[in-house]
Amino acid sequence: MKKIFIAFLSFTATLVVHAQNKEIVLETKNSALVYVMKDNQKVYQAYLGQKLNQSSEYLKAGGPQKEAYIGAGMEDFFEPAIRVVHADGNPSLDLRVSDQKINKEGNITTASITLKDPQYPTQVVLHFKSFFNEDVIKTWTEIRNGEKGTITLYNYASSMLHFSAPNYWLSQFDGDYMTEMRMKESKLTTGIKTLDSKLGSRAHMYRTPVFYLSLGNLSTEKNGELIAGTLGWSGNFQSSFEIDQSNNLRVINGVNPYASDYKLAAGQTFVTPEFIFTHTLNGKGQATRNLHDWARNYGVLDGMKPRMTLLNNWEATHMDFNQDILVELFDGAKKLGVDLFLLDDGWFGNKYPRDADKTALGDWQTDQKKLPSGIGYLVKQAETKGLKFGIWLEPEMISPKSELYEKHPDWILKLPNRDESLSRHQLVLDLVNPKVQDFVFKVVDDLMKENPNIAFIKWDCNRPMTNTYSPYLKANQSNTYVDYTRSLYKVLERLRAKYPHLPIMLCAGGGGRTDYGALKYFTEFWPSDNTDGFERVFIQWGYLNFFPALTVSSHITSMGKQSIKFRTDVAMMGKMGYDIKVNKMTNEEIEFSNQAVKTYKKLSDVIWFGDLYRLISPYEEPRAVLMYADKNKNRAVVFNYILNYRRKEYLGKVKLDGLDANKQYKIEEVNLMPGTKSALAENGKVYSGDFLMKVGLNLAPGKVQAVSSSVIELIAQ
Ligand code: GLA
Repeated sequence: MKKIFIAFLSFTATLVVHAQNKEIVLETKNSALVYVMKDNQKVYQAYLGQKLNQSSEYLKAGGPQKEAYIGAGMEDFFEPAIRVVHADGNPSLDLRVSDQKINKEGNITTASITLKDPQYPTQVVLHFKSFFNEDVIKTWTEIRNGEKGTITLYNYASSMLHFSAPNYWLSQFDGDYMTEMRMKESKLTTGIKTLDSKLGSRAHMYRTPVFYLSLGNLSTEKNGELIAGTLGWSGNFQSSFEIDQSNNLRVINGVNPYASDYKLAAGQTFVTPEFIFTHTLNGKGQATRNLHDWARNYGVLDGMKPRMTLLNNWEATHMDFNQDILVELFDGAKKLGVDLFLLDDGWFGNKYPRDADKTALGDWQTDQKKLPSGIGYLVKQAETKGLKFGIWLEPEMISPKSELYEKHPDWILKLPNRDESLSRHQLVLDLVNPKVQDFVFKVVDDLMKENPNIAFIKWDCNRPMTNTYSPYLKANQSNTYVDYTRSLYKVLERLRAKYPHLPIMLCAGGGGRTDYGALKYFTEFWPSDNTDGFERVFIQWGYLNFFPALTVSSHITSMGKQSIKFRTDVAMMGKMGYDIKVNKMTNEEIEFSNQAVKTYKKLSDVIWFGDLYRLISPYEEPRAVLMYADKNKNRAVVFNYILNYRRKEYLGKVKLDGLDANKQYKIEEVNLMPGTKSALAENGKVYSGDFLMKVGLNLAPGKVQAVSSSVIELIAQ
């Protein structure tokens, strides 16, 4: 087939436009997404699957070709990607191709298909960005109102994808406060399955916007065709999976249309959030590794830079502290050997001091009684002890008992004729109001200007939205949910322009906000207020499916009653930190922990930047085993957690993964309690990668104890 290359573009095999059929072939290392423009000027998804050697053969693949981005009101009978009511009240959209662009620069290819309605000057641009090495594709949509009046968008998906397989399996990740990311898997049946959120802020408390979709059979870690998808949006989201009468599946991802019909004024363009996905034939493990690689390179702020270990004071003191107590806690941080001390909630408010969660949000002035010498003093004291200093903020919120509320009662989200609706005794600021955006920016900016040595921020968001009405928006209330999230991003943009690399942890009462829309601005996130080591195995396991270890803040606390070793081993699988009363720890625990921090520092480049392999799932056996291997396959670390072990339960050898079969690896159990020895028969010995991956290690030697753990380092000889 003759190929015509658009002259100004320097692409090669990655993205090709075939003249006769007007194909767009978007290829990554292993996958391809292909669109075709037909004579009727409509664009159809022709292929989504494994890459073929010859791009000219995609159209021979067969299977139903479905319109790429279906507008409501025309011939289609199923869920639309877009539903628009034009300025004259016409509720239909007919999308025909008017232009397409492609560009390849190194690893990244961008493509866009511009669609226009022949009868209305409404324009829809489908955007694609593919990341060759990571096998990841990002899609989003721009909708431009070229009409003279306002149009209303009722549905406005980021992405619509079509599949044709005998069966479809969905793996979703649900939960609640303290029980985040519990994996549930089910076979999809005819009709629509929807995963969504209507919580506005802290939007992901019940469900994270992530999923695996297995095609054919339910994928395992190593086998099976699937896509892993996630929406980069910190507000209400919706993923819908609809199987039609012919067993075709359409998957639509985007902002949740719930209560969000968006009024788009003449001349305005609506840009949807990005939907990010990877396709693989090699199971969930490969999907995870693709997403992790993409996230570190492109999705997370400073994803290829190291993180700091820290001691947080929340679980140790809650809001009950003063200057001297904090300075004493610095000594604890020193004993542990961490990099940073993080001061949590309770340091602000004077007229209404923040002694409990009922007051002071919005009054971001240092509590002069608790901290008479100010934050600057704490920063200095920390520094004299060789520690960096970080601080907690919850800038989007306001307490009714605050000076800010007294000054600006109209700065909150609140419905007219309804009572204020409190959650955790607080209200959500009307961030859509540019004055509120300035205020929130200034909270952080002033703090940083006064204390330029603050080295870390924890940005919290402790309630969802109810009573959702923006006094600022007045008539266009159904824009509120969307505009709130956009306003948050605007503030974060401004902050990042001024403080591009300040590490900030994203928190929302635990994992209430975990998505790649926000993670562009954040360096890590707080997965859960549940820090019980046993529970954390599952919670972190869940998040690690979609987010790399260096983003998953994992703190050792006293919430669980497990041994310090178990709790530490659990925290080590993510980004380790502490939130513990060091003065209540025994000398042995401190000695162990100090050594553990050193061990973690030694292993952290493998954990943060290596490839994750989940070896035994806690959903399948009474234990969880996972490992990271560095990209050169020279070093690896295995985390082994025995959970609810019952007498004589069979725990077979664990086959490792991600090693080089031809290399020899020395096995060494690390992070042992002082004075104890490894029970592993293989400890200290050398095995080939081949043996370790085909035969494996006995990770349950001797008398097996419930709730026990080990960490094993492998070094190529
Ligand atoms: C949320 C966070 C906690 C802590 C408190 C402070 O619940 O998840 O870690 O910061 O707020 O109020």
